[in-house]
Amino acid sequence: MPPKSTKKTEARGLFITFEGGEGAGKSTQIKLLQKALEKDGFKVVVTREPGGSTGGEAVRHVLLSGAAEPFGPEMEAILFAAARSDHVETLIKPALADGSIVLCDRFYDSTRVYQGASGNVSRELLSKLEEVACEDCWPDLTLILDIDPKEGMRRAVARRNKGEPADRFEKEALALQTIRRNAYLDIAEAEPERCKIVDGNRGEKAVHRSIVKLVENLLQERKLSRAVREKSR
Ligand code: TYD
Repeated sequence: MPPKSTKKTEARGLFITFEGGEGAGKSTQIKLLQKALEKDGFKVVVTREPGGSTGGEAVRHVLLSGAAEPFGPEMEAILFAAARSDHVETLIKPALADGSIVLCDRFYDSTRVYQGASGNVSRELLSKLEEVACEDCWPDLTLILDIDPKEGMRRAVARRNKGEPADRFEKEALALQTIRRNAYLDIAEAEPERCKIVDGNRGEKAVHRSIVKLVENLLQERKLSRAVREKSR
């Protein structure tokens, strides 16, 4: 992994993360938002965790295959953070410095929820890992797609019936999905400025409209519309 730069990012775009349990519709909504923002003239980078960068994708395989499972949730949290560090350094920071809007499918809230709430990894360790992996690169907005865990499981099963295999984390039971949903709601309550809950039980278009409104609010707040559009031309 390259040494971390201490240089501050200059022209900064926007960093938006998407979170939610199984079948919440994150990837569909990311694609729809990407299309809408690009149509508006923004430069958009779509990425995901674990993965997104060469180092991150290598660790993704270890984590999702279940190869790291025997080491326990703390070691898994460390591996997720290692993948995140590479992702932040080699992909997210450069994209933000370039004025792009980065849409990231999962980020550290997934570690808080999956390894923290449902894996019992301490908040103390998770906070330390967040600091190490993110440095000065924190999400401007986190969209939490909230879905009834039963509906989420139903959608995830339908997806698998189309030939997508279940990963190690998807195989777990409904009770765990409920713990995770509540953990996401707790995060949103604790950080209302950054985190917005979006009702994911609705149809795709209605969810997209809610997301667009939230993103437009943020763009206005940051007065980014003109600056970013001009830079991306
Ligand atoms: P993925 O195939 O990307 O599916 P999806 O995001 O659609 O659920 O799987 C990523 C899995 O990794 C997912 O089950 C959640 C888990 N995960 C963690 O446990 N901790 C983390 O920090 C991250 C980023 C993901």
